[in-house]
Amino acid sequence: MNATIDQIKTEALRELASAVDRDAVGEIAVRYLGRKGRVTQYLRHISQLPSEERPLAGKRANELKNFLSAEIEAATRRLQAEALKRVEEIDVSLPGRPCFSGALHPITQTTREICAIFNRLGFETVEGPQVETDYYNFEALNIPKNHPAREMQDTFYVSENVVLRTHTSPIQVRIMAQRQPPVRIIAPGKVYRCDSDLTHTPMFHQVEGLMVDRKVSFGDLKGILTTFVQQIFDPETSVRFRPSFFPFTEPSAEVDIRCVICRGNGCRVCSQTGWLEVLGSGMVHPAVFENVGYDTRAYTGFAFGMGIERIAMLKYQIDDIRRFFENDSRFLRQF
Ligand code: DAH
Repeated sequence: MNATIDQIKTEALRELASAVDRDAVGEIAVRYLGRKGRVTQYLRHISQLPSEERPLAGKRANELKNFLSAEIEAATRRLQAEALKRVEEIDVSLPGRPCFSGALHPITQTTREICAIFNRLGFETVEGPQVETDYYNFEALNIPKNHPAREMQDTFYVSENVVLRTHTSPIQVRIMAQRQPPVRIIAPGKVYRCDSDLTHTPMFHQVEGLMVDRKVSFGDLKGILTTFVQQIFDPETSVRFRPSFFPFTEPSAEVDIRCVICRGNGCRVCSQTGWLEVLGSGMVHPAVFENVGYDTRAYTGFAFGMGIERIAMLKYQIDDIRRFFENDSRFLRQF
């Protein structure tokens, strides 16, 4: 026998005390209690002792084995607790984690900006239902039964006489049916058309405007819309009124602005024309006034409608409308 029980015990305890982590304790366990470990070897050699010494030596060796097992387990637990404590300690020198604050969606921002401009011009913001009857969406607006806008390809039908509104124009009719002139309203909201590509999504947003009073003229239309365009884009923006057609206005005009990208020189965005179409407008058709019971001899008015995504795309130079609805926060955070 080389080492005594006491020597093995002393050395094992010293090694355990200086172990720095659980791996080190694991190695000590192998070195003492493993198959070739020192305690195991000692137990094996007992059979070679004189028979009168064997019982005591065996008893003491087993005691040491149990004692060391307990010590090893205790050391493991202690080192584990220390490691955990190191992880939990807060390093106050670390930079803080940034927390992103929410923000309004670019379409909401643009909608509010548009409405605010008209509010300052005396227009009241109103809303209407997104699920609309055929009457308000088409009939009352002088859109005849065989008009292409009524085709299944464009309109989402809920039932034969109920549709998802295809424009915000029905709000004009609803308001006029409720109120007597003077009327000055601006009506934003979601609209739906069965259409999807780079510049169309099945759901998008429009803003409708309506002004009815005695002696409202095409000059008022031009003045209000020019003021609006120069406030939403920039005060130098040139505007052009181009003859057009809508069933609910007569005469009708589309409003173009000088291309915000090329300033009129011609580019891909304006299809080399130097102009961009931003909204539809016109003098309210007498047939619409008759449908809501307004006296066409006493009152005249103008109306207009525009796509909010289109305004936002031009304002922020975005070429794919679908970006607005993908909810990619890297895109949305830029506004
Ligand atoms: N409702 C039309 C559309 O969706 C836009 C429009 C054009 C509205 C002329 C108007 C208007 O009020 O006068 O394309």
